[in-house]
Amino acid sequence: MHYLVIGGAGYIGSHMVKCLVAEGATVTVLDDLSSGHRDAVLGGELIVQDFADRAFLDQLFSNTRFDGVFHFASQILVGESVINPAKYYRANTVATLTLLEAMRDHGVNHFVFSSTAAVYGEPDYVPIDEQHPKVPVNPYGASKYMVEMMLSDFHRAHGLKYVALRYFNAAGADPQARLGERHEPETHLIPLALKAVLGKKPPLKLFGRDYDTPDGTCIRDYIHVDDLSSAHLLAMQYLQNGGESTVFNLGNGAGYSVQEVIDVVAKVTGKPVPVEHAPRREGDPARLVADAAKAKSVLGWNPVLNDLETIVQHAWNWESQAQ
Ligand code: UFG
Repeated sequence: MHYLVIGGAGYIGSHMVKCLVAEGATVTVLDDLSSGHRDAVLGGELIVQDFADRAFLDQLFSNTRFDGVFHFASQILVGESVINPAKYYRANTVATLTLLEAMRDHGVNHFVFSSTAAVYGEPDYVPIDEQHPKVPVNPYGASKYMVEMMLSDFHRAHGLKYVALRYFNAAGADPQARLGERHEPETHLIPLALKAVLGKKPPLKLFGRDYDTPDGTCIRDYIHVDDLSSAHLLAMQYLQNGGESTVFNLGNGAGYSVQEVIDVVAKVTGKPVPVEHAPRREGDPARLVADAAKAKSVLGWNPVLNDLETIVQHAWNWESQAQ
């Protein structure tokens, strides 16, 4: 099999490349390195290029026959998306439309898309299943949901076979610490807590302790990045075996509060986490937990690194040796 991995030099994409290479697949990575890292591509061929360049895509798809495309490249900062929505609609929605048109015109027919729990907006109920209303509350979530709508329409009109995977909180790192989270700026809880322990960043700001949860801090569903990768591979194989185009939630179905995460970081690192109390961060729902039963039953997905301590341990192994 020969796969195209768009955004394969980024956090989740690089773990996917590792997984595909381990499967014996041939991998071409397309990444403009605007936020990805050349040394995160552990195998395959890296092409440094904007994926929304139609002339380039025409050339690539004319020269190479891909068995499927995984698309990870996107802008991911929820707060920035509110201030600069055009950046998100252009990078996440318009660019993906260009890609889908090129795939359509070259008969590239299998597509696995990185979507997000942000398509649901403020939850009406938890755990959240795929039927939950989709009412994104920021342009980031809307930009991803628009792609899901385009996928559905391309499926109907052109027979595109796709799976959209709605991630909850991607976390952790390669168990051998060859890969990990390297966002700039970093906004995610676990890497910021680890950097605070190491003194690489200021004390962690704990955003809100007055939520309607047992300890007053927000609850999230953390899913190991290698378990995410295995779900992508299963999703692609599902399409190749004739599976219907659809969407799946990817999460553990277990919620941990911010305070619980901080406690696990202290346990794993053996050091207290420097914490400052801060007001709520705008747009943070109290509780986001996935119902991922569909991915488990339809894809046979079985997340194996789902214990929070393992997730934090792997992130710590990476963070403590990263520059
Ligand atoms: N948090 C802090 N301090 C920090 C960073 C985070 O207290 O410095 C808290 C947040 O308030 C939240 C929790 O830790 O309660 C997790 O925050 P993250 O920023 O790590 O993750 P989010 O749940 O906000 O975001 C994730 C993905 C987004 C996606 C969203 C879905 O990273 O891409 O879930 O709603 F949009």
